[in-house]
Amino acid sequence: MNFILWVHVFCVILTISGFIVRGIWMLADSPLLHRPWVRVTPHIVDTLLLVAGATLAVRIHQYPGVNSWLTAKTLGLVGYILLGTVALKRGKTKRGRIAAWVTALLVFGYIIAVALTRNPLPLGVLGAARVQVRSMAAGHPGYILRSKLEVSDIQDTMGLNTPSTLAMIRPIAADAI
Ligand code: HEM
Repeated sequence: MNFILWVHVFCVILTISGFIVRGIWMLADSPLLHRPWVRVTPHIVDTLLLVAGATLAVRIHQYPGVNSWLTAKTLGLVGYILLGTVALKRGKTKRGRIAAWVTALLVFGYIIAVALTRNPLPLGVLGAARVQVRSMAAGHPGYILRSKLEVSDIQDTMGLNTPSTLAMIRPIAADAI
């Protein structure tokens, strides 16, 4: 795993662990939630996560607003941050805070699924992962497909023949075939 991707994934682990712990403090009405370092650290982690993500995007020449999976991830990140603010700061009632916290966790799960499949509609998460091969040996940061057969396999597995799926598959396949 290259260094920037490592930083990105490390920040992913930090942000979600911190969010779960702060959620538990919120449920318990703990004063720890209001400590200055508890309030500041998540901003640093989330900024680093975004900067590392943007650097990776430049590196693989795929961008939010151009490639739909990155658009979905970026919108997902904005949603996760906004829901997190409601859950841990702005929410007026405990019920509302809990609802925002659970929704933020679901949004986070969605972002992970999008990251692993490179698909904004990650319906076939497991199947897609099965036929994707990371070509680290060739120094290529993306995925390759092993054969032409798998190109149709991956489309069948995802059950999606939409333009965005095809746009995602074609450039990858062109690399491998
Ligand atoms: C909460 C937000 C995010 C989460 C949970 C997340 C999660 C992940 C994970 C788990 C991977 C590794 C996928 C793999 O190993 O196959 C990844 C890769 C990546 N992420 Fe994110 N990400 C987030 C936000 C972003 C944002 C906002 C961007 C871009 C602006 C971004 C750009 C990328 C890129 C380009 C890769 C692929 C790197 C590669 O395979 O070479 N991520 N992300």
